[in-house]
Amino acid sequence: MKKILDMITAEVTNAFEACGYDKKYAKVTISNRPDLCEYQCNGAMVAAKDYKKAPIKIAEEVVQSLKDNVIFEEITAVMPGFINIKITSDFIADFLNQMAKDKHLSIEKTKDPKKIILDYGGPNVAKPLHVGHLRSAIIGESMKRIGRLVGHEMIGDVHLGDWGLQMGLIITELKLRQPNLVYFDPDYKGAYPQEPPFTISELEEIYPVASGKSKEDESYKEAAMEATFQLQHGNAGYMALWNHILNVSVADLKKNYDKLHVSFDLWKKESDAQSYIPDMVQYMKDEGYAHLDEGALVVDVKEEGDTKEIPPCMILKSDGASLYNTTDLATIVERMKLFQPDEIIYIVDKRQELYFEQVFRCARKTKLVGEDTKLTFLGFGTMNGKDGKPFKTREGGVMRLESLIDGINQEMFKKITDNHSVEESYGKQTAAIVGLSAIKYGDLSNQASKDYVFDIDRFTSFEGNTGPYILYTIVRIKSILAKYRESGKSLEGNTILKASSPSEKQLMLELANFNHVVDQAFTERAPHKICSYIYDLANDFNRFYHETKILSEEDQEKQAGWINLLKVTKQVLEQCIDVLGFSAPERM
Ligand code: ARG
Repeated sequence: MKKILDMITAEVTNAFEACGYDKKYAKVTISNRPDLCEYQCNGAMVAAKDYKKAPIKIAEEVVQSLKDNVIFEEITAVMPGFINIKITSDFIADFLNQMAKDKHLSIEKTKDPKKIILDYGGPNVAKPLHVGHLRSAIIGESMKRIGRLVGHEMIGDVHLGDWGLQMGLIITELKLRQPNLVYFDPDYKGAYPQEPPFTISELEEIYPVASGKSKEDESYKEAAMEATFQLQHGNAGYMALWNHILNVSVADLKKNYDKLHVSFDLWKKESDAQSYIPDMVQYMKDEGYAHLDEGALVVDVKEEGDTKEIPPCMILKSDGASLYNTTDLATIVERMKLFQPDEIIYIVDKRQELYFEQVFRCARKTKLVGEDTKLTFLGFGTMNGKDGKPFKTREGGVMRLESLIDGINQEMFKKITDNHSVEESYGKQTAAIVGLSAIKYGDLSNQASKDYVFDIDRFTSFEGNTGPYILYTIVRIKSILAKYRESGKSLEGNTILKASSPSEKQLMLELANFNHVVDQAFTERAPHKICSYIYDLANDFNRFYHETKILSEEDQEKQAGWINLLKVTKQVLEQCIDVLGFSAPERM
């Protein structure tokens, strides 16, 4: 369906042209003074300079030619040259009736679908998921869903970190603890056991111990680096161990992402890109892109007009070892080969911005990436505690994602059972649903690039700009609809009538913005726009609800109209929380 803003702009465009002005001035926006009008056009102010006329004169002419237009209830020229617009209740009701019938709720699928790879999640094998990975997962999942909603082919890739020093650390520690395992016997020729020699909890215990030791003990660190080197150069026993680590970790990661309602189309790993490295390096040398700098192989990525120093992109260290960069570049080669994407979006901590700038420039310069393929860095800020420092456990350690989620769910459970008595298992289930909304909405309602304070008390509140408030609103609508149905009336086939109060009209106007907001959230890579939209929508609904006695209304037609309006409100809210990556319970 057309956007209501475009429909209004079309009328205003005709008027500008009829009055002899260029149509480019006719852009209509949602009013930023809702007390005065619903929509506005500020084009007369711009046109005034080009046509050397007083802006108010232009505005008046345009308004004059729109006086009899049936879609405007009120259109006025206001000093110094604003055009203030109110649309008729008929027009908006009409729009909403179409929206109610549209299976996409007014959203038009793009005519130019793109293939977009999203690199998000980015967990590291054998290391527990921590809150730093939470943001990537939440934002990436939401971008994926928003993209799909508007009709793009979105491919989510978890891009598992499985090739770094953490592997060598675990192998080293394991060797110390269980030196007799066959994996460490260089003469062993048989097949390695199917069963891993550790569980996920052991694995998670091993890593921090090994990492701690390597920071204190130089020789331990060297052993870990050597083990990493051996693994990367095909040591059979280490490869077998690595496979175990991978399997045990991935099973656990999937479980955790499931809880977060996050899922990936691809479970590719850093190690998958390794086979592309030798050819890529050779090519960069042959084409003269890469050169030696103090023994290391680098590609210069400085560009004219740089205001800050962009260091060269290192491809190989002086000992010939590859790096994080090398893997990311080789992954681009792999993605181009396997998918030919139109765009790759990286949802990564914004502290890696300079790093990605180097990688992107290098990929462009060396033509690893197609000219038409966009590389986008969607950097996110840090999740801080109330003290303004990166979120930690009470003891000051790194907060594990599982503990964070458990903490929120317990808090939610308390709140839910405080209000009324619920069956324990249902309460727990509901707490998990509402808890997820608290976490995700708390995160997504901030512009991704900004740091934010993770405030459990605020996020779990049923009031204010929070996930639980949105869910509460949806549940309220569900309950009204259920009562209406229980009174023997049908929810099908009703028509939305003209608004009979300002709060009802406001709710309708807000609903009509839905397709515009979703488009904007996608183009600007900004899930927070959806959050602020549903916050406004929920407020508009609640205002309408408090002013309107829906269930006791005697005029059946009027009541049915409201019920239908509620249905659309619920559908829009549900569609929005779905792209944010959470859902609503039946009751709460
Ligand atoms: N595993 C990395 C980390 O934990 C994030 C990976 C981000 N994606 C990428 N293509 N480099 O920091």
